Amino acid sequence: MDSKFHAFMFPWFAFGHMIPFLHLANNLAEKGHRVTFLMPKKAQKQLEHLNRFPDNIVFHPLTISRVDGLPDGAETASDIHFSLTSSLASAMDLTRDQVEAAVRVKKPDLIFFDFAEWVTDIAKTYGAKSVYFISFSAASACTSMVPGLRPDNLDVPPPGYPSSKVLLRGQETNEFSFIFNPFGEGDTLYKRNTKGLTNCDVISIRTCQEVEGKFCVFLKSQFQRKVLLTGPILPEPDKTMPLEDRWNLWLNRFEQGSVVFCALGSQIILEKDQFQELCLGMELTGLPFLVAVQPPRGSSTVQEGLPEGFEERIKERGVVWGGWVQQPLILAHPSVGCFVSHCGFGSMWESLMSDCQIVFLPYFADQILNTRLMTEELEVSVEVERGEARWFSKENLSVAVRSVMDKDSELGNRVRRNHAEWKEVLFRHGLMNDYVNKFVEALEKLVQNINLE
Ligand SMILES: *[C@@H]1O[C@H](CO)[C@@H](O)[C@H](O)[C@H]1NC(C)=O
Repeated sequence: MDSKFHAFMFPWFAFGHMIPFLHLANNLAEKGHRVTFLMPKKAQKQLEHLNRFPDNIVFHPLTISRVDGLPDGAETASDIHFSLTSSLASAMDLTRDQVEAAVRVKKPDLIFFDFAEWVTDIAKTYGAKSVYFISFSAASACTSMVPGLRPDNLDVPPPGYPSSKVLLRGQETNEFSFIFNPFGEGDTLYKRNTKGLTNCDVISIRTCQEVEGKFCVFLKSQFQRKVLLTGPILPEPDKTMPLEDRWNLWLNRFEQGSVVFCALGSQIILEKDQFQELCLGMELTGLPFLVAVQPPRGSSTVQEGLPEGFEERIKERGVVWGGWVQQPLILAHPSVGCFVSHCGFGSMWESLMSDCQIVFLPYFADQILNTRLMTEELEVSVEVERGEARWFSKENLSVAVRSVMDKDSELGNRVRRNHAEWKEVLFRHGLMNDYVNKFVEALEKLVQNINLE
């Protein structure tokens, strides 16, 4: 029997989900499998360039219907304010007929999904296997998706929760309460996720045993499902795109390992005061720095939002940039010695892969737990102190950066040593490929109804 399968992918309409699904699709396609990727029409244009195997990965555009509350033309989470998420979920649910029709015609062997929990019913009807793909950390899945959580006690971990360090503290639970908000007609994200994880054939997680083994075991015990790990599935660097001269030349001016690079991902829009505190904190470190963030709310450029006199004071050693930058290549530049990050799951892996000292200022939900995983479980990073405050002070940011950058800092030396050891374990030759190979082999067995042991 031909072991090549045909998989459907149907992630939540947000780039933070669609992009890791597409990286996973590339890994399947590389092994000769076929993927049909279902997504809103407009997103296709934005993601096409990440498709490395256009012969094997075909995009299947979905038409997004008009939904009350959703602005015209909104198709993904980046098109809307966070408060409209529930309407976007309703729009996703309205594509059910299109998804079902595509499954009926193309008869996939597997369907990967996440927030659209009704995919498991379609899969059962048409004889496909359903795979819930968790594209964020297992640690955050354990604190937001397992049975028995209550909105009013999210900082009490569920029975059997495997860590005394990767925890939410006090008011941080507010950052997670959105899982109990409406998410589509009569649903919450929490309800959908627990249902999807209970009814799917297999759970897969974008992580590895070495870093999150105990969280994966916990999820497995909660849902009594086979759990398959893909590894971090980081895309190959594009060798045809070297670091832009603008940054290469600027960074070349500084001593080895002296520059602090700060990036908060493409999604985060800071309030103006948060943005200014960030800039002033970088100034206070006294080190050269490059900050790449979106302009703050209410400003059309970063320049417009900068503190009084800031540019004049830091012009010899600092840049604040409002556009996209090649993060992995900047982290790999010899002058860069410190990475200040929001600890989104992709950036978390990139920070581990780099040789930089790592400082986290998590902004939202899973970033908080990713940060605890790195800082308290792996002890490779530091977290900026913020007490009960919603955002940190410039002093606390500067203290955190100095604590890992000062030559004789004990903490700095400890995280540097631990980070180097973890990097050695995780990025030794072959480990990532082993994960992908084993994952794909398990899927081949699943499709052929061979028991997964
Ligand atoms: C700064 O850090 C201290 C602990 O070192 C903490 O008590 C305080 O709340 C922090 N301030 C802010 C604004 O985050």
